[in-house]
Amino acid sequence: MTGEHVSDRWAEWRRQIPLPEYHSRWERMAAEGKATHGEADFIGSLRPHRVLDAGCGMGRVAIELNRRGIEVEGADLDDDLLAFARGDAPHITWHHADLSELALDRRFDVVAMPGNVMIFCRPEHRCPIVASLAAHLQPEGVLVAGFSLDSRPEALTLAEYDACCAGAGLTLFERFSSWERDPYTGQDYAVSVHRSR
Ligand SMILES: C[S@@+](CC[C@H](N)C(=O)[O-])C[C@H]1O[C@@H](n2cnc3c(N)ncnc32)[C@H](O)[C@@H]1O
Repeated sequence: MTGEHVSDRWAEWRRQIPLPEYHSRWERMAAEGKATHGEADFIGSLRPHRVLDAGCGMGRVAIELNRRGIEVEGADLDDDLLAFARGDAPHITWHHADLSELALDRRFDVVAMPGNVMIFCRPEHRCPIVASLAAHLQPEGVLVAGFSLDSRPEALTLAEYDACCAGAGLTLFERFSSWERDPYTGQDYAVSVHRSR
């Protein structure tokens, strides 16, 4: 399987980028002195004790958070990417799971979806994923998601995402246009923070 079981859009991404090349890309960027940890900086600034990296892929964000001393677990439906995460960080718990049906016996202060997870999942899984992740939050925990807003048919809108969150008992707390907390004023990328009641 090369991503078809995740979604058509994820399979399209998988066809374009060889995984070893994607895996080494981040190391190359870091070696060139480029900032590669914006998401981890943002999530770390929330001072969480325990984070779920939901749609963790190769685990780059979870691994960085763990390196900073934060307890973290990762979950993803694509075992080919999880293999890289397991290889790089065998000490972290990685779950091979569909987020729309996730049922872990733990709760987290922060559940994070960096890296466009919400646009690479199946459109019909958007609200079920938000609902299942909301169920993994501790009271007053936050769901953080960063995703692009594009003009494709079936593109996810912020109104649709907010409606999924409201349906799952989550309230919009903050929204930015970057992981560096630039204000959101209608840009084509948003980082949204929703809080559980
Ligand atoms: C672009 S990757 C981002 C990976 C990682 N978050 C990062 O920032 O490096 C999107 C990920 O979402 C995962 N994904 C999409 N739908 C999913 C679902 N229903 N359950 C679990 N993972 C899913 C894909 O398998 C893929 O690894």
